[in-house]
Amino acid sequence: MKVCVIGTGYVGLVTGVCLAEIGNRIICVDKDKEKIDMLRSGSVPIYEDGLEELIKKNTASGNIVFSEDTAYGVRESDIIFICVGTPPLSTGRPDLSAIDEVAKLIGQSINGYKIISNKSTVPIGTAKRIRKIIRENQDSENGNYEFDIVSNPEFLKEGEAVKDAFFPERIVIGAGSKKAAELMKELYRPIIEQDFEYALNNTHKKDNVPVLITDSTSSELIKYASNAFLATKISFVNEIANICERVGANILDVTYGMGMDSRIGSRFMKAGIGWGGSCFPKDVRALSYTAEEYGSPANILNAVIQVNNHQRFKVIQKAVNMLGIIEDKIIGVLGLSFKPNTDDTRETPSIAIINKFIELGAEVRVYDPIVKKYPGDMDRGAVMAPTPYEAVKKAHLMVLATEWDEFYNLDFEKIKKLMAGLNIIDGRNIFDKEKLSAMGFNYTGIGY
Ligand code: UGA
Repeated sequence: MKVCVIGTGYVGLVTGVCLAEIGNRIICVDKDKEKIDMLRSGSVPIYEDGLEELIKKNTASGNIVFSEDTAYGVRESDIIFICVGTPPLSTGRPDLSAIDEVAKLIGQSINGYKIISNKSTVPIGTAKRIRKIIRENQDSENGNYEFDIVSNPEFLKEGEAVKDAFFPERIVIGAGSKKAAELMKELYRPIIEQDFEYALNNTHKKDNVPVLITDSTSSELIKYASNAFLATKISFVNEIANICERVGANILDVTYGMGMDSRIGSRFMKAGIGWGGSCFPKDVRALSYTAEEYGSPANILNAVIQVNNHQRFKVIQKAVNMLGIIEDKIIGVLGLSFKPNTDDTRETPSIAIINKFIELGAEVRVYDPIVKKYPGDMDRGAVMAPTPYEAVKKAHLMVLATEWDEFYNLDFEKIKKLMAGLNIIDGRNIFDKEKLSAMGFNYTGIGY
């Protein structure tokens, strides 16, 4: 099929390249010419496992092309995916200006029946808003073309996006018409049946992928409710971790025991310094905003946000307990990205913690395997260290903020000789508490 993907963020790029890989002709569009030039020259602006190779392969085969001309992409395609950003406004409501702009351009360029499939995470009712804008902008002289709006939410996890796109747990299609639902199913058929080269060469999954056909409003809510539920699970576990610390229980055993009940499950049960990233913080706030807007109290959602905001500052409390006055102390932080295997530092707990330490007068050195520049104000920012060992050299405290693989194998004998004070706060509970305590470290995890 001929498909246009508007927006080359991580959702747009991954969607485009995966649809190309299963045999469609894709035009990836972005109004940012610099980004398009970069992609044309074969470099990928984001770090995502496997993405660059797939882009190169599908660019070479001609299955994917890049353009800054949205109108051209729309005219040449049967299905148009909207994958533009919906960043939060100060009220928590998502900013829909990029969606509106794209809908307007689609209205102005439409030249036949099209499906407009929205993958951006958008407030309830946005499918209807897009329909209205397209209608208003159609050129009546050229005829009012028929089109369908579909809500097809994205469930990709950063760092595992390519794998999630090829081997999804479900595909949700919120369509107003049977025709649109059938065409979308046809587009996804190789993925639904797991019948494409990449799947055949990988052994991830062999069963058919379940497809849910529903209305667009329910589909939009499925996306928000799923992210909000996952964030709730983590905030719940973090609250239990805090109780563990008070009563002397071990959160690792508690969550393991809870997860043995298949109704609860063992995934997304890791206690720590809380959730961040470009999705959970924005989406939980947006759902809470929608709930309030429609007069339905969002008590649980608001508590989930509050617990998460508080959780990162547990590290500061723990640091004060260990070091006393923070001023002039040297603190080595391991990890800047909001989770491993991504260079994304949006709403990362690590930066909030570092900024607080700096505000309290500490000297902070940070090491991250991929993020090499401290985001934000460099005058007051942390110093980036080239290795984890340089980050903790002469430090009074080490804080583990992101559980990158390489941190599991640190040489603690070496670290012991380098540090000025043997204090460790393990914000993700990855180190062996007994071993480190036996080595003489003053170790504390989160609820462990
Ligand atoms: C999340 C969802 O998992 C995806 O399904 C969804 O498609 C995506 O948002 C989105 O809406 O685009 P992502 O933000 O990439 O994906 O990251 P997650 O892997 O879900 O992690 C989110 C945060 O939760 C991270 O800060 C992570 O450290 C934290 N987390 C996760 C925990 O603290 N404990 C856990 O047990 C799991």
